[in-house]
Amino acid sequence: MILLAIETSCDETSIALVEASGGLRAPKFTVLKNIISSQIAVHIPFGGVVPNLAKREHLKNLPKVLRQILNFQFPISPPGADPPSEDNFQKRKNQKSKLVASGYTPNPSSIDAIAVTVGPGLEPALWAGIEFAKELYKKWNATSDKRQVKLLGANHMEGHLYSNWLTNSDKRQATSKKRKIEFPAVALVVSGGHTILLYMQSMTKWKKLGETRDDAAGEAFDKVARMLGLPYPGGPQIAKLAKKGDCNAINFPQPMRNHQNYDFSFSGVKTAVLYYIRDKVKATGKKLTQKEKTDIAASFERAVTDVLAYKTARAAREFGAKTILLSGGVAANQLLRKKLKKVAENFGIAFAAPEMEYNTDNAAMIAAAAYIRVLQKKKYRLIAQSNLSL
Ligand code: KG4
Ligand code: ZN
Repeated sequence: MILLAIETSCDETSIALVEASGGLRAPKFTVLKNIISSQIAVHIPFGGVVPNLAKREHLKNLPKVLRQILNFQFPISPPGADPPSEDNFQKRKNQKSKLVASGYTPNPSSIDAIAVTVGPGLEPALWAGIEFAKELYKKWNATSDKRQVKLLGANHMEGHLYSNWLTNSDKRQATSKKRKIEFPAVALVVSGGHTILLYMQSMTKWKKLGETRDDAAGEAFDKVARMLGLPYPGGPQIAKLAKKGDCNAINFPQPMRNHQNYDFSFSGVKTAVLYYIRDKVKATGKKLTQKEKTDIAASFERAVTDVLAYKTARAAREFGAKTILLSGGVAANQLLRKKLKKVAENFGIAFAAPEMEYNTDNAAMIAAAAYIRVLQKKKYRLIAQSNLSL
């Protein structure tokens, strides 16, 4: 199945083309194209994402990104690659060959479904994507004489979770060999809005072990970055600064580390940073030096990644996980990846995290989430659901 997926839940306008195949035991997602148009520059002056501005930018960017996507030529599956499970695969392949030969693909006829994020996210931003998807759906079904394109809603957080299964079309062989995801698994999904630890028995059967009681991990990164005068989004900025600092310089708290549950809390560490900066400035009567900033960034990053890795490790041990999965925007953090990889090595189990481009918001993961719902024969309503959860 070829899906055209649309993601507009926050500040990235993204559209992707993904070839999905296989059943729930071994789904395959080959990303043919994934375009992300970031609105970060628009939101920087406000220090965070402004929902109505996000909507305006999505409405502006969606047609542009779609145009870029539709100029894309569908590659033909390489020899030896697993074919999609649909019985009309051969027909589709011939159709694709013709399109590649013609060199141009204005191409609803090769697309089986449009997938769009329905939540969670910023309501106006979600609506922008949903309305756009509906229009496209109407237009394509009005012009296509033979077959109907489907319209599928998708859950953004399921997208983050399933981003672990995405492979790039050019890296198909290498990546699928390297990344073998066995169940049971524990999955840490850490983004700007969520911090969730899951126990997964299978692709679709999971239990939420814990989540944040206050700020999400990414949100804490963003807020601390702002305290240090760094622009939004703060995660990559803090990580960059932290590289030059001493992570043991300051002992910031690691809230709930020793609680027996699997919940998290990051507002305490954020407040500890705030007080530390306030006291330092008061004591010296000067602004923070660059060295002090790097030490704060490194010590903060250590506190957050330590507690995430520690609790994930405890869950992996308790539940006998064969794989540790990490995804969501904060999964782009190299220190966190390193720590969880080490945990997995120590336990003799696997560790998987998406390719870097699929950690932060992207539409490829939305295609994966929508396809899994199709396999489950379940549907999301096509309305913005800002609080949709996993
Ligand atoms: O998943 P995502 O793109 O959006 C949401 O669904 O929220 O995650 C964005 C979050 C932001 O808070 C951003 O600061 C954080 O991911 N982030 C990072 C890094 N890159 C992005 N946090 C820590 N280290 C990074 N390298
Ligand atoms: Zn996200």
